[in-house]
Amino acid sequence: MLKYRTGLKDMPSYDVVERDWEIKVNANECNMNLPPMVEDRLMGRLSRVAYNRYPNEEYDALREQIADNHKLQKENVLLGSGSSEIIEKLFYCFGGTKAKKIVYPEPSFSMYRIYAKAAQAQGVPVPLEADYSLDVDKFVTAVNENKASLAVICNPNNPTGTGYSVSDIEFIAQNIPGNCALLIDEAYMEFYGRTSVGLLKKYPNLIIARTFSKAYGLAAARVGYMLAGKDIVTMIEKSYMPYHLNVLSLATADIVYQMRHEYVPRIQMMIAERKRMSSELDKLPGVTVYPSETNFVLIKYAKAKELNKYLETKGIGVRCFGDAPGLNNCLRISMGLREENDRWYDAIKQFVEGRA
Ligand SMILES: Cc1ncc(COP(=O)(O)O)c(C=O)c1O
Repeated sequence: MLKYRTGLKDMPSYDVVERDWEIKVNANECNMNLPPMVEDRLMGRLSRVAYNRYPNEEYDALREQIADNHKLQKENVLLGSGSSEIIEKLFYCFGGTKAKKIVYPEPSFSMYRIYAKAAQAQGVPVPLEADYSLDVDKFVTAVNENKASLAVICNPNNPTGTGYSVSDIEFIAQNIPGNCALLIDEAYMEFYGRTSVGLLKKYPNLIIARTFSKAYGLAAARVGYMLAGKDIVTMIEKSYMPYHLNVLSLATADIVYQMRHEYVPRIQMMIAERKRMSSELDKLPGVTVYPSETNFVLIKYAKAKELNKYLETKGIGVRCFGDAPGLNNCLRISMGLREENDRWYDAIKQFVEGRA
């Protein structure tokens, strides 16, 4: 018997059914590859990369660019292999023993629970209300009563799509102790347009996490970043291995960030599609559609599991939550291209109208 780390066997895995979908709308990705102008610039850049050197320069160049855009300094920015790496490291750094409590709403990003366990901390889920709104008093009380070391809010929230106001975030920041780090996971911020970055200077315990995987369609490159006070960045950096991001990802993210204006039309298109599909879904009998500020929509339907199976037979991959807490009978559908959205919608319509 191999002597694995204690607790590893019981760790839940990130559980997604993947296959070669005809229409893949299950992971909140962008269904378009690089814009042609970005691709052209990137190909030129990749031909000039120093493959023989550790990627110090590229790491700092991207940090500086992100810092400038937020009127911060590069010491306020930490990059990660996806925002996943950043979130996982934050849980690790603010965890370590069962005495360290990490508070997050539920339902929210399913990895928070897993990272809390991996960090050997105690995860404290705070149930969202029936409409997935956040009772900020309840959340603050949970943070305070548990003397939490880290509190996490995903804004807008995955998988519910709910956007929380910056004043709600500030209320939380104001009413929890300064020795509890407050992470706002803004993975879908570009579709929402509201950010808590403006609160960073006022609340030194605040941390913002962002990703290139969603609005910037760069899930394959695995790049994310965190914005926070210099002291927090210095501490979290200690948990990283040297040169944790490879030069191909850094160069790609650097070009994408320089050319981020190229992404505005597609972000607007995805928002328009989300609005269109939400109102179409709303017309279907027995389907509840939750308001979304992201690039996906969450629906509730009594026969969600059967509907999911039917969609699978049509080569359509959506995310079914099975019996996950607070998500019973829920399906999450990411916005694809207009034609793709029309196709999954037709399949859902057929099923709910009993024509499947
Ligand atoms: C809320 C949220 N945070 C973080 C992530 C991680 O994204 P990535 O590691 O690709 O940056 C995801 C991915 O789905 C997410 O939904």
